[in-house]
Amino acid sequence: MNFIFHFSLCLFPFPLTPRFGFQREVFLHLLVCLIEHLYIHIPFCPNICPYCAFYKESAGRERVETFLDALLKETGEWAKSLRPRTIFFGGGTPSALSIPQFEKLLGGLRSHLDLSALEEWTIEMNPATVAADKAALLRNAGINRISMGVQSWDDQVLKSLGRTHDADRAEESFGILRQAGFDNVSIDLIFGVPGLTLESWRSSLERSLRLAPEHLSAYGLTYEEDTEFFRKLGRGEMAPDEGLEADQFELTAEMLGHAGYLQYEVSNYSLPGRQSLHNSAYWSGKDYLGLGPSAFSTVGTRRWRNIRETGIYSDTTLNGKTAVDFEEEVTPGLKASERAAFGMRTLDGLPLAEASPWESELCGIEKEGLVHRSTDRWLLTPRGRLLADTVAEIFV
Ligand SMILES: C[S@@+](CC[C@H](N)C(=O)[O-])C[C@H]1O[C@@H](n2cnc3c(N)ncnc32)[C@H](O)[C@@H]1O
Ligand code: SF4
Repeated sequence: MNFIFHFSLCLFPFPLTPRFGFQREVFLHLLVCLIEHLYIHIPFCPNICPYCAFYKESAGRERVETFLDALLKETGEWAKSLRPRTIFFGGGTPSALSIPQFEKLLGGLRSHLDLSALEEWTIEMNPATVAADKAALLRNAGINRISMGVQSWDDQVLKSLGRTHDADRAEESFGILRQAGFDNVSIDLIFGVPGLTLESWRSSLERSLRLAPEHLSAYGLTYEEDTEFFRKLGRGEMAPDEGLEADQFELTAEMLGHAGYLQYEVSNYSLPGRQSLHNSAYWSGKDYLGLGPSAFSTVGTRRWRNIRETGIYSDTTLNGKTAVDFEEEVTPGLKASERAAFGMRTLDGLPLAEASPWESELCGIEKEGLVHRSTDRWLLTPRGRLLADTVAEIFV
């Protein structure tokens, strides 16, 4: 998952004019620093969830093989510009790849990339796709962090989310990952789901805490355009309960805080020292390269996106053409806005010097109790964390 873009696309809608003029060679020539953060989008899912808007499709064996060939070709073209400190396999469901497909992917990446500086290598896993042999292969290949989409520990809620695993299967998968030697595991949960009571959410948090994951992401359900849930919302068949969602958000912060987790970003909690380095790099405005269909990259003053459709991405890349279908300049103003909006959501907040263009707006929402000013930075209040998207609007 490239969740950052989820957020950033809402706040900073790009003019999506297709541009095929992207010249990688010219760009590489101008590049002065090696890129340290690499995102790889693996777009296949065995089952499509009705709430999810990430770019994904059902996997067919031949299509996956062609995609892997294209991805490795694209990696090779960028290899000299990369020395990753973090790699993130997102999707889609990267863990849906078979063992031979993983062998091809991981072997290919190792042959192209200088991994000597690598600190964190994350893969997103759906509990239904976790198996002992796959987990061992990933661990032995150097992947050292898992982000597992549990979503809920309530079987009824899992059904309504269209998930194919139940709570027991998710717990078993967590055990398999521990057995394979993963000591940095994150769990994704979703609250605000219709039918999820406060008590059931409390139980979900308790069951998560019993497993002692190093990291937890708790997202409020978003009704994304082009999803089944969005259509149901439009037809009046689903209705958000904002009061209950706010209670669930507050309960999360309270229970995870008591258990020793830091809310280092509005939706992300970790044990001390176990923050996601990859996502923190996005939030602090570092350069990153995204490979694979629909992946965004931001390097220096350029941002671009790869073609979304996997078949077209693969054919275009294998034919030696650029897979980029959109690019834009990241002006100093845009960079500062994004940095402010993302920084404000984190525990570090926004340093006063960086906040100066929005001083009067910040003073305005300080009176509403959404932010407060410390000696050297602006920080969200607990109420501001609840309304973080509203706060972020002042930076647009
Ligand atoms: C790209 S998904 C990858 C995880 C993996 N494919 C799975 O489903 O287990 C990343 C995470 O985004 C979150 N997510 C996706 N769509 C969401 C939505 N509409 N509202 C809230 N969270 C969402 C889920 O928690 C999910 O685990
Ligand atoms: S939530 Fe995960 S498994 Fe479900 S459709 Fe999205 S990426 Fe695929």
